[in-house]
Amino acid sequence: MSVLQVQDLHTYYGNSYVLQGVSLEVEQGTVIAILGRNGVGKTTLIRSISGHTPCRQGHIFFQGKEISHMPSYFIARQGIGLVPQGRRVFPSLTVKETFQISARGATEHGWTEEKVLKVFPRLGERWNQRAGKLSGGEQQMLAIARALLGNPRLLLLDEPTEGLAPLLARDLGSIIQQIKAEGLSIVLVEQNLTFALALADYAYVMSKGRIVHQAPAANILLDAEVKARYLGV
Ligand SMILES: Nc1ncnc2c1ncn2[C@@H]1O[C@H](COP(=O)(O)OP(=O)(O)OP(=O)(O)O)[C@@H](O)[C@H]1O
Ligand SMILES: [Mg+2]
Repeated sequence: MSVLQVQDLHTYYGNSYVLQGVSLEVEQGTVIAILGRNGVGKTTLIRSISGHTPCRQGHIFFQGKEISHMPSYFIARQGIGLVPQGRRVFPSLTVKETFQISARGATEHGWTEEKVLKVFPRLGERWNQRAGKLSGGEQQMLAIARALLGNPRLLLLDEPTEGLAPLLARDLGSIIQQIKAEGLSIVLVEQNLTFALALADYAYVMSKGRIVHQAPAANILLDAEVKARYLGV
């Protein structure tokens, strides 16, 4: 069963035509990767799904329900968690305060504070530290923790390894695997091909606002032509 269906999305910033008919599907419990060079529209796609930059044309179905023209707070409440590019944690709030404002609904089930801290023990050690004083890797963990506390069914991760040292990126990879093992579906936008394809079941390659290639992740890893043409490797 598919948890997310995106059908022929067209998204603009004013007169600037960015997404030019994007379609994709996420099966329940799988990770899909969105790959492509800078400026091809990956973040715009994520923001169209989350409702922050609504599409002008097209349809988005989440768990069978159309969410295409719903406001972002409503989409979040339906169960779509967003970890935006650049993390965007509130710098003046402590880790503890960030947890407090992020927890939603019944917290005895699903992603409780306790369960999230088990995945991110480092955040427990930084409990009373302001988010602005955390390292880049810790801020990324906080941004993911914040999304998990909303108990999403689908997680949108926009370039989680951006600016992280290779060792930290590896840690993040095993964390994403743990999250997947809990049954979450994940849309992972990445420039780090090796990282993304190791985690993803299926991948979409974008160029100039369109999907130009799609295949099981393992196939893309072996596809020298697609890698050279669209991914710059
Ligand atoms: N707020 C905005 N207003 C106008 N144009 C924008 C805005 N945000 C992005 N764009 C343009 O839309 C296009 C797609 O941008 P987008 O951020 O979606 O790309 P991306 O694939 O996420 O790139 P990156 O890998 O650098 O994050 C680019 O040409 C960009 O300049
Ligand atoms: Mg981006």
